[in-house]
Amino acid sequence: MIPDITTKHGPGASPGWRLSPYRAPREYYPTPPEATRAFLAAEHFDGPIWEPACGQGAIAIECEAAGYDVIATDLADYGYGEAGRDFLKTERPLAKHIVTNPPYGAGLADRFIRQALAMTARTGGKVAMLLNLASLCDPCRHHSYMARPPARIYALDDCVCYPNGDPGLAGPYTRRHRYCWMVWEQTPKVTTTFHWLSTAPYATRGDA
Ligand SMILES: C[S@@+](CC[C@H](N)C(=O)[O-])C[C@H]1O[C@@H](n2cnc3c(N)ncnc32)[C@H](O)[C@@H]1O
Repeated sequence: MIPDITTKHGPGASPGWRLSPYRAPREYYPTPPEATRAFLAAEHFDGPIWEPACGQGAIAIECEAAGYDVIATDLADYGYGEAGRDFLKTERPLAKHIVTNPPYGAGLADRFIRQALAMTARTGGKVAMLLNLASLCDPCRHHSYMARPPARIYALDDCVCYPNGDPGLAGPYTRRHRYCWMVWEQTPKVTTTFHWLSTAPYATRGDA
């Protein structure tokens, strides 16, 4: 059972909400640009993309650089995209495809996946999420993955999402995380394929 943290401690409680003293405020762990570049070199989207937890735009900026039209929203205001939009409470899709690195803690990533799948069922689009590789192996998720398997999983060889984007705030646990992109399509029965992506070739613009 995933707790409803949207009112007491979580999103909506205050602008600086955090799930625990050990988690970044607002679950803000921005995506290194090379992780998105490597992914976009492998996966194509046939229409506009909605980044519904955009933060400072780390993913949205790379999607735009790759030529996609992007709608960027977030619950919090990072000075990028449309602030004040709670993805979990948004009722209509804002673009065909959804691509994000969602908040993870307290079941938030699972709720983001469910909401994104519900939204893209109406648009025919794909869902792509940057997730903790270990989240694949969890008895709580076994049935949902079996019922709705992703079409593709891309394991990233080197990616760390630092709290607030600050390596100085990272504990050993953060550095031990391993990440993958998971992509869901609208085809209900798929055989998941697994791919390996290296980020180093994409960390070349002096910002990674
Ligand atoms: C792991 S960070 C990733 C930020 C950005 N996607 C990136 O890749 O750099 C998670 C983001 O989710 C946002 N967030 C948390 N709960 C949200 C909600 N209910 N609706 C929309 N955004 C939310 C946070 O403000 C934060 O920017």
